[in-house]
Amino acid sequence: MCGIIAYLGDRPSFPLIIKGLKRLEYRGYDSSGVAVFENGSLNIFKKKGKVADLEAEASAAGLTATIGIGHTRWATHGEPNDVNAHPHFSSDRRMALIHNGIIENYAAIKQRLEKKGHVFLSDTDSEVLIHFIEDIRKETGQPLEEAVRIALREVVGAYAIVILSQDAPDQLIAARKGSPLVIGIGDGEYFLASDATPIVEYTKNVVYLDDYEIAVVNAHGLKIVNLDNTEKLPYVQTIELELEAIEKGGYPHFMLKEIFEQPRSVADSMRGRIQPATGMLQLGGLTGHFDKLVEARRIILVGCGTSWHAGLVAEYLFEELARVNVEVEYASEFRYRNPVIHHDDVVIAISQSGETADTLAAIELAKERGATIFGVCNAVGSSIARATHAGAYTHAGPEIGVASTKAFTSQVTVLTLMAIALGRHKGTIRDEVFTGLLEGLAALPGQIGQVLENAGKIKEIAYIFTYARNFIYLGRGLHFPVALEGALKLKEISYIHAEGYPAAEMKHGPIALIDEDMPVIFIATRDSSYEKIVSNIQEVKARKGRVIAIVTEGDELIPKMVDFVIEIPESHEMISPLLSVIPLQLLSYYIAVMRGRDVDQPRNLAKSVTVE
Ligand code: F6R
Repeated sequence: MCGIIAYLGDRPSFPLIIKGLKRLEYRGYDSSGVAVFENGSLNIFKKKGKVADLEAEASAAGLTATIGIGHTRWATHGEPNDVNAHPHFSSDRRMALIHNGIIENYAAIKQRLEKKGHVFLSDTDSEVLIHFIEDIRKETGQPLEEAVRIALREVVGAYAIVILSQDAPDQLIAARKGSPLVIGIGDGEYFLASDATPIVEYTKNVVYLDDYEIAVVNAHGLKIVNLDNTEKLPYVQTIELELEAIEKGGYPHFMLKEIFEQPRSVADSMRGRIQPATGMLQLGGLTGHFDKLVEARRIILVGCGTSWHAGLVAEYLFEELARVNVEVEYASEFRYRNPVIHHDDVVIAISQSGETADTLAAIELAKERGATIFGVCNAVGSSIARATHAGAYTHAGPEIGVASTKAFTSQVTVLTLMAIALGRHKGTIRDEVFTGLLEGLAALPGQIGQVLENAGKIKEIAYIFTYARNFIYLGRGLHFPVALEGALKLKEISYIHAEGYPAAEMKHGPIALIDEDMPVIFIATRDSSYEKIVSNIQEVKARKGRVIAIVTEGDELIPKMVDFVIEIPESHEMISPLLSVIPLQLLSYYIAVMRGRDVDQPRNLAKSVTVE
């Protein structure tokens, strides 16, 4: 949520910042801005809309500065417009700030400052922060770094900030709490950003700033202090991210690229984790903590959105394969519910970005109450990955399309491995089931490839339903969360109203919606619920609903009953959600494209939800 990029070095900063903002645009795309020194003074350019709009406007200024800050916004306080866009000036216009996060006590600070004569141009909490820092500087006569420290000790909320000041025009000051900030270290140059995507092109050496830390970057190097003014030696890490991973690679959208990457990403999620000779499962990140999982009285899976859906799939897997009590919680509800948590509970936090504010807060709550926390994250080094006791990365690679696709299948893959490893250890999986699961996993990347070969047929179905106004998605068992996920994908990128239900629930209300205009998508693969789902399809057909069914290859019954079928290969029931979700991703994608939607950056959304 909001993307930050700042540069200090020898290169012209403006083109570098614009390129960086485009890479970060998935984090927020309602407005953007840059601040640079030009002819000895601080200049800000900001614009409502996409980064390209900002680029078009500011390029004319012929900016040549080699230091600058840039921001792409996802509005929290104040509507998206030119004024509320970042950077924000201090009142003397000698400092500019970019901010990702929320200053919760901004109203009280603003009131105090207004009494002292500060005038605010925007509705943002961020502008209040730079005025506050300016005020402390004036009141105390302290250098900027110290004023930032004093201000941040009083601030409640979350922030990643970078400040550029006319009084130290060759220096950047940054700080973080709750919102990510990574510092790239090049040869005599520094890059500060919300994540490594705008940095990787220039350097692989990075320092992740921790909460309550302030970084000062100038010609003398990088200095990190915490809010108590204790200096810390920067810990330089090497990132593994490759540039191709964050480019479209010939696809029209990141989402389509990411859907088609799934044979590879799912294979990467399993790579090195299944010993070919013995079939033993090894999840390195769990080493030393696996006993906690074995002894767990209960597993609580927490996440938001698509990650919560992955948790719902995992509930079936852990219960069935490892015979353990499982609860699945929306992180945003869990954190405020005063939940009963025991020291022998294990919480598994699922997050693609590793930065979701509600999931992080849920982890902190469960940790305080003595639970062991495992993470299933995609973003390496992210806040959630670092807040957990142990975990397994999903290794899906960067996901840039706002709608999550490959992250979901990788999360489910890793959770499947965890459930199998646990069940095997506890002796709750029979040998033949274990062998079947391993065979199923081995075949999975190829089978996903087979489903993707059906894209043309799915596109034809999308064409027929492009202008549908509602959709219902139904599934049973493990395919119920897939139905939820299919409905979420459709609504977020096509803006069509869609609902997912357990197929048997339909009779308890939603069936009233069925008529000849209602498309109903059934996930109806040949598994333990097959007969039941066939009856549910009949109930919908009897009411003239238009049915699209995801069926197992070779099914002869359902194709005779429904309007459209999409076949997926036969696989182990526990693994089949990883196949049945793929056509739903493609269907949503094609419908959204046909409706002319901005698929990678749908309205009102952002990739990384760092506010609650
Ligand atoms: C949906 C989607 C969101 C995220 C949710 C959690 O396509 O992307 O629902 O799944 O915001 O995000 P992470 O997984 O980053 O914690």
